[in-house]
Formats: sequence, structure tokens, C-alpha cells
Amino acid sequence: MASWIETPPSTSGRRTPEELEIEWNSNPVSGLEYVLVTGGLGFIGSHTCLELAKSHYNVLIVDNLSNSSVDVLRRIKALYQSETGKEVEIPFFQADYRNTFVMNTLLSQYNITSVIHFAAYKAVAESISLPLSYYSNNVSGFVDFLTLLDQKGCKQMIYSSSATVYGCKGSGDRIEESAIRSGVECVGLTNPYGRSKWMCEAILSDVCTASTEWNVTALRYFNPVGAHPSGLLGEDPLGIPNNLMPVVCRVLKGESPTLSVFGRDYATIDGTGVRDFIHVVDLARGHVAALKASMSIASPGKSASYRVLNLGSGKGYSVLEIVAEMERISGRTIPLRYVARRSGDVGSVIANPALANLRLGWKTEYGLKEICEDTWRYLKNTMED
Ligand code: NAD
Ligand code: WQD
Repeated sequence: MASWIETPPSTSGRRTPEELEIEWNSNPVSGLEYVLVTGGLGFIGSHTCLELAKSHYNVLIVDNLSNSSVDVLRRIKALYQSETGKEVEIPFFQADYRNTFVMNTLLSQYNITSVIHFAAYKAVAESISLPLSYYSNNVSGFVDFLTLLDQKGCKQMIYSSSATVYGCKGSGDRIEESAIRSGVECVGLTNPYGRSKWMCEAILSDVCTASTEWNVTALRYFNPVGAHPSGLLGEDPLGIPNNLMPVVCRVLKGESPTLSVFGRDYATIDGTGVRDFIHVVDLARGHVAALKASMSIASPGKSASYRVLNLGSGKGYSVLEIVAEMERISGRTIPLRYVARRSGDVGSVIANPALANLRLGWKTEYGLKEICEDTWRYLKNTMED
């Protein structure tokens, strides 16, 4: 959750707690290459760290816990152990990725060869009331971070982008990456969050144009939902959520009496909004595939050092289809209230994932049933906690 109280790097010569922690606790294993994952304890980051570890990457996490908890680290390690029979070391630093002292120290101590950058604020409505907080965390902090990575020679990145960058182009056919060209168009973006993601793509594109040593893949996620099939990892937003699935979960938990359905007059199967809901485990595996592909094509001097890929299933489900499946799986009723369209919404947003399928050898494996079953399993666990 965004806050005006950010942890700044120390300027007085006295170390902040996070700076002290890094001096005491860093313990890199020499000879190992690490993937630095910022925001690695969040919804998508946690699933990705588990998949990375299972694919034999050495993961190092930096997260300031502004929208997650350290218990997630314990769960990642426990799942790794139950799935592989082995223990895993995952160095974790509770720090703001904008703290250049901390990041500089980590980049000096660990042999970090690539970065997956999840750390950001992501609530659309909140970004409208706290634009500066969003631009600070998502954009200006990111510029400083890129500057540091550039200086340290760590120039391979997977960036968390969003289908939100398609703005009003998102209605109609399945969306191809070419619907916008990064850094060239910014059309129909209705909120600071969306603009922050577009700006970061533009910045990355410029950085790659300036230096072919950089190797960046921006992944445009469509609508990430679901949870780990164990029910141990999932989405647990602080505060009142705006996204469909977390709101459905609030109703199922009895924290909200009804689900407001925003619009029933779209040109879709049942008049309600249709989205490309992607299971978070599929999304996590997309990151592993992107990292593998990026490492295999990394060659200094090559011109195509910036690429953009859609991570979606290519199939859309309507709000009412999600509701019906969640009701079937939970055995509970989700009372509905039909209200006007939500400002800024479009009827249908579905990915054309052909490029990611081709370039990464990746495609989604899970559909609506698994998405809803796993969401319900995680929800039941959180209700028992
Ligand atoms: P999340 O809030 O669950 O995870 C983000 C993590 O980053 C949290 O653990 C938070 O504590 C951490 N964080 C935030 N600011 C930080 C900072 N300054 N320093 C260190 N850690 C920080 O969100 P998520 O859904 O996992 O999203 C991850 C990324 O994916 C974000 O960049 C988001 O914009 C992008 N994305 C998300 C969605 C979605 O619907 N969830 C869709 C498209 C793109
Ligand atoms: C999905 C559908 C709503 C809530 C957002 C961000 C995007 C990305 C993913 C980060 C729409 C309807 C929703 C509710 C409803 N995030 N709905 N009642 O708007 O497609 O995308 O999350 O990058 O940037 O904009 O997702 O889950 O909010 O909405 O009827 O209470 O559900 O109208 O049709 P959206 P969403």
C-alpha cells in the first residue's frame, strides 16, 4: 500500500536499519550468480521466486514489505522443500529498492547478473489520489535504480509491465504488442499508475537504444489471478481492493455484502466486461521462460536488446463467468448489484500471446477452473488463519 512515509537512504552518515541489516546479514556464496528480484514477496513475485528456485536459479529478494509480509518467504521455502525434497537458501533484505546505499552494497557483494523488477505500487484508484507517491516509487526510483545497475554493469532485466499500457486500444480484437510501440504512443491512459508503467517502458526502450549492452524484456501482464495450488501463496491486498477477484473474495469472506458489477451493456457474451485472466503460476513460469530466453540471446552489440511480450492466455472470461465459477466451487452465493460502467473501463481486453508462445516456448496451462479452485483454496486458508 502506498504511503507518504517512505524510507529514504541515510544522508546524515548514520545508517538506517535497513542499511545496518545489509552490513550484518549479507552472506553471498562465492562463485554463484544471483537473480535479484525486487518486490519478490508480493503476489506475482512470490510465485516467480518459487518457480525460479525450482528452475535452479539463485534468487535474492529485496522487498520493503509495503504490500507483503516476511511470512511469505517462509512459505516459498516450505513449498520448495515440499516440491523438491531439498532446502533452499534465499537471501532476503527488507529494504526499499530506492535506497541506493543498500542496492549498491548488494550489487557489490553479490554476483547479480540479472534483475526481475516487480517492486511498484499498483492500485489504479489509489494512484489517482497519490500520484506523486506512484511516480516516486514506480518511475523516479526506477530511473535511479537503472542508473546504479548501469554503473555496476548489471544490464539484464525482466520488467513487470501491464496490459494497462494499451489504454483505450484494449477493446475489440485480441491485442498484439504492436498495438502500441513503447515510447512512441501514450493513448487513453486514464490514471497515474498506467502512465507510470508506460513511462518505464519508454525509459527502458531509450536505455536499450543508447546502449546495446542492455538486454531488457518488458512483460505486459493481462489480469493476474489465482493462487499457488497448495493454497499457501496468493493475493492478499492491504486495504480495500478494486480488482474483480479480490472483491469477489471479500464478498465470499462476508466482508462485503455484494459485488457491484460495473456495466452490463458491453458488446460481450453477457454484457459484462471480459478480461484475459491469467493464473499466477502460469505468469510466474512466463518469467522463468523470459529469463532463460533473455540469457540465451544476450550478446553485446546485438541491436534488438529491448523486447515487449504479452503474457496472457488469449482467452477471455466475463465478470459473470468468473462469478458463476466461484459460486460453483465455493458452494456460496455471490450477491450482485448491477451498476454503471466504471470510468476508464473497456468492454474486452484479451491478449494475443502468440509472440510470447513463439519466443519463449511458453503458454498458459491453467484455465478458469484452476484459477477459481486455487483462489478458493487460498481464501479458505486465510479465513482459517
Ligand atoms: P504486489 O503489491 O503484491 O507486489 C509488489 C511487491 O513490491 C510488494 O511485496 C511490495 O511490498 C514491494 N514493493 C513495493 N514498493 C517497493 C519498494 N520501493 N522497494 C521494495 N519493495 C517494494 O503486486 P503484484 O500484483 O505482485 O505486482 C507486481 C508487479 O506487477 C508490479 O510492478 C505491478 O505493477 C505489475 N503488474 C501487476 C498486475 C496485477 O494485476 N497484479 C498486472 C500487471 C502488472
Ligand atoms: C476486471 C473486470 C471491471 C471490480 C486492472 C488494472 C490493470 C491491471 C489489472 C495492473 C472489469 C469488472 C471489477 C468490481 C466489476 N493491473 N469489475 N466489479 O480493470 O481489467 O485491470 O487490473 O497492472 O492495470 O487496470 O481489472 O479486476 O479491476 O476489472 O464489475 O468490483 O471486472 O469493470 O470489467 P482491469 P479489474
